[in-house]
Amino acid sequence: MQLTAKTKFAELIHQDYTILPILNRFGILLGFGEKNVEQVCQQYGIDTLFFLEIANSFINKDFEPEKQLKDFPVRLIVDYLKKTHKVYIYEKLPFIEDKIKQLIEQNVVGNSNFRLIQQFFKDYSSELQSHIQREETIFYPYVFQISEAYETKTGIPEAQELIRKISIRSYAMQHDDVEEKLNDLKNIIIKYLPSVSDNSLHIKILYELFYLEKDLNDHSRIEDKVLVPKVLLLEQKILHAKSV
Ligand SMILES: [Fe+2]
Ligand SMILES: [Fe+2]
Repeated sequence: MQLTAKTKFAELIHQDYTILPILNRFGILLGFGEKNVEQVCQQYGIDTLFFLEIANSFINKDFEPEKQLKDFPVRLIVDYLKKTHKVYIYEKLPFIEDKIKQLIEQNVVGNSNFRLIQQFFKDYSSELQSHIQREETIFYPYVFQISEAYETKTGIPEAQELIRKISIRSYAMQHDDVEEKLNDLKNIIIKYLPSVSDNSLHIKILYELFYLEKDLNDHSRIEDKVLVPKVLLLEQKILHAKSV
């Protein structure tokens, strides 16, 4: 399914309800009536094209966002990425951690794989948090600084020096795949957890892990396919600019 400005919002949710948390990130509330994407975006003061690119890249993993999204201001993209970081740290990770804790408490069979899952998730969680911290303390501020230099045409020599020192290429090279390990965790749950009479908690955790994985994939795709090419272009323009 490909969304357009004329797609009705209610229809969008019927087609793919997994988009609901994304709407939340944009601050869009339910109760759309017959409004379409463009009308809802206008109501909330959201750039319609930006919303469409984000939503389409979430719904369809083969969607190529770079054609249009590259034209959006860097700040809009980074703000969205930072919002999703917050969701991971303050909502998703604590929620799953809590569910795993409940799993341990209900572990009537005393199977050690439950503890293994807990430890695995703990390690995963701190890895994801340091990944996010690196982006928020080094790369996003770097991106802001050079895009500001480009827009205001001031501080060009400093920006040029910064580009030579940091460069988005180094970020792209170090940008590790944070979703991959979730697959191992899902596998332990699917293959090795002992069967219990009520496994609704197992299913809940598994569902959350699948969703987190999809969300992280989408997030990384925006970082790699949208942010990096856009910043590469900015760097080139700044490196060739004359200082004012
Ligand atoms: Fe990120
Ligand atoms: Fe990342």
